[in-house]
Amino acid sequence: MATRGQFGSRLGFILAAAGSAVGLGNIWGFPTQAASNGGAAFLLVYLVLAFALAYPILMAELILGRHAHGNSVVALTRIAESSSTKAIGALTGLAGILVASSILSFYSLVSGWMLGFTASYPLEALGFTKEAAWLTDFSLSRNVILMTLFSAMTVGIVMGGVQEGIERWSRRLMPTLIVTLILLVGYVFSLDGAAEGLKVYLIPDISKIWSADLILSALGSAFFSLSLGVGTMLIYGSYISDEEYLPSIGAQVALIDVGIAVLAGFLILPAMYVAAARGVEIFDASGRLLSEDTLIFTVLPELFATLGVIGLIVATAFFFLMSVAALTSSISMLEVPVAFLTERFSWSRARAATTAGICIALLSGVIALNFESLFGFVIAASTRYGQPMLGLMLCIYTGWIWRRDSLLGELKKNDPDVASGLFWKIWPWYLRLVCPLVIGTILWRSLA
Ligand code: PFF
Repeated sequence: MATRGQFGSRLGFILAAAGSAVGLGNIWGFPTQAASNGGAAFLLVYLVLAFALAYPILMAELILGRHAHGNSVVALTRIAESSSTKAIGALTGLAGILVASSILSFYSLVSGWMLGFTASYPLEALGFTKEAAWLTDFSLSRNVILMTLFSAMTVGIVMGGVQEGIERWSRRLMPTLIVTLILLVGYVFSLDGAAEGLKVYLIPDISKIWSADLILSALGSAFFSLSLGVGTMLIYGSYISDEEYLPSIGAQVALIDVGIAVLAGFLILPAMYVAAARGVEIFDASGRLLSEDTLIFTVLPELFATLGVIGLIVATAFFFLMSVAALTSSISMLEVPVAFLTERFSWSRARAATTAGICIALLSGVIALNFESLFGFVIAASTRYGQPMLGLMLCIYTGWIWRRDSLLGELKKNDPDVASGLFWKIWPWYLRLVCPLVIGTILWRSLA
């Protein structure tokens, strides 16, 4: 079997895990959902869920992964003692691989669009109008070709391995992403109309907070944003050295992720109102703010078009930012099946990455061919239901199935006094009781 990779440094791990977490979910999903769900009301619920629910589960994944030094199937069977819990653990791990692959299948399509929009602006400026239009107009050929390009980039990085591929690229891409985002926010703030958007973003419409739909969306958003449930964080955790103190590393990853989502809100909502001040329509017929794909692919490009030459630079920077964010996330999704294939079947990394990459790209192709019926369905099934359900299983396995002394032993590896600290006093029972109860209730309500 190929030797297991390991992150070279703490910063390398934090950037890679934050790279997985920070993606289209933060820069596109979170702000557009906030825009259509009462602005700050959504922000508030999201913040509460991210810290109260998502962080404890992130910790469960990291600790499980490092304990097993293996993929999620290995991790969940190792902590189980009876044959039935071992079997259910293995099935949960496999389901995670399936859900991670389904997420990647639609994610690659959307990321391909981001690549297309990034290239379209410079091309348009150079006079390649037809080519630029092909890159931005919806068509089967564009969807499939750009998706294939994006998938090839993902496979290329994952083939490089943990340190030479994932960590190296995360170290390059994450700082680029943060700087681009901050520059864009600064620029949008300087334009007329931005203050109006800030108000919508920051003053909560409290009446919306108890809407079941808002809570389910915010839960899905928080899970999706922190890449939870599917084993991504578990497998990244398995590449962390035993010397690292996990609770604080996990907290840093969660903080970066939430911080970037919130920061992206400072870009998107003000940008919408800047667009409105320039005569772009930002409300639909029923008076709701335009969101999701219309926002990103219609409202923002219309705004960029009103900004002249600067608009060209800002637009290219914006879609470049989206593409970078997407890439650091997609590599973490592909790593889930790749880790399984290399560990279970002793495949080489190159073989595992290309095989998994091709299978997932084929799935993306099927979605592209049946876009109307499959695209929304795969997103909802994998992120709204799949991720929270798998998160629930992880709580049960870490909280109830894993023997407490063994779990404590894992945490003691780098902190002998962990048992007397706050984390050990709160986290285990919280994971046993509060997390499953809340996730279960939200899921049950949404299915009922
Ligand atoms: N966290 C990523 C985002 O916010 O875009 C999406 C994601 C990555 C989901 C990895 C699931 C995953 F395993």
